[in-house]
Amino acid sequence: MIVPDFSQQKQTYPFFTELLEMIVSQNPLQRRAIQTHIDEQTEEYWIFAEKLCHQLDHYFLKSQEQKKKAARAYNNLCLTILKEQVLFKKTGIYRESDPVKVNEEIYSQEEKMRLYIVGLLFSYLFWPNHYQMFLFFKNHLTQIKLKSFLEVGVGHGLFTAEVLMQSPNTYGKLIDISQGSLTIAKEILESYQIPLKRTDFIQGDYFDVDLGEEKFDLLIIGEILEHVSNPEEFLTRSRKLIRDKGKIYMSTCVNCPAPDHIYQFHNLEEIRNLIQKSGLKILDERALPLEKRPPNCWEKEKITINYCAFLEQGS
Ligand SMILES: C[S@@+](CC[C@H](N)C(=O)[O-])C[C@H]1O[C@@H](n2cnc3c(N)ncnc32)[C@H](O)[C@@H]1O
Repeated sequence: MIVPDFSQQKQTYPFFTELLEMIVSQNPLQRRAIQTHIDEQTEEYWIFAEKLCHQLDHYFLKSQEQKKKAARAYNNLCLTILKEQVLFKKTGIYRESDPVKVNEEIYSQEEKMRLYIVGLLFSYLFWPNHYQMFLFFKNHLTQIKLKSFLEVGVGHGLFTAEVLMQSPNTYGKLIDISQGSLTIAKEILESYQIPLKRTDFIQGDYFDVDLGEEKFDLLIIGEILEHVSNPEEFLTRSRKLIRDKGKIYMSTCVNCPAPDHIYQFHNLEEIRNLIQKSGLKILDERALPLEKRPPNCWEKEKITINYCAFLEQGS
């Protein structure tokens, strides 16, 4: 077996390689998956990963203990998702369908959420599809002029941090049902040295939060439609919250089991139809299958597909 090591990159990318080594030392089984992923990346990836880890080193990953915990959270998320995938291969359906139960058992449990959301943050470095989605978001963002944005289901805050870094005069409203998520998002913004006065954190269910007449240039709704039982209502509300020329960034997934996924999309058409029914139009999209299988097998074999898009008001 070839034993890959990260010593070659260590000098140029010290913050990222330290995290890599910690993840792999806690779980040697990660080595191959991570190596395969990073071998396929260009220098852009290394620069992105190093910049992210360097930013986080200001506060969120300052101590060795924090780094160990972050590595543990990522390893834990991978294991959780693997278990869910094994079960899903047998049943073909998601385990949960009740948002109230998921809120009680997951979103309102601070420690559970910390493990989950911190793990999810690092999935944007190590899961090829998540990294692709973040790049898609980041690249589109450079073309959008914005003064205000709303992120719903902010989770770790990585997307919000990117907007606030790219557009220094922007202000953002951040909603999450989980206080645990909001606490992490605040820590991430602190790591990015972004003044918290540029944001407004709101804890609550998106369907209940009163936003008055306010409209936004951009809505970010990443990885959340599969967490609600009525995604059409969710998208319709989102459409009403953007200005005439406003944009929505959304991501979701098809056949992607997780402990808090309650709405199952069975194919990409279901997502596209929902977008249209909600009065929105797709400007650009990416569909990223998890396995290298031909598109005509995806639905039959229940292949996980990550999906992201930029949307605007339909005509
Ligand atoms: C999978 S995380 C997504 C994090 C991040 N947006 C991303 O794209 O990676 C989903 C987040 O949505 C939040 N959430 C779930 N249902 C919600 C609801 N009805 N209203 C507001 N937030 C919700 C969860 O607490 C969690 O932080």
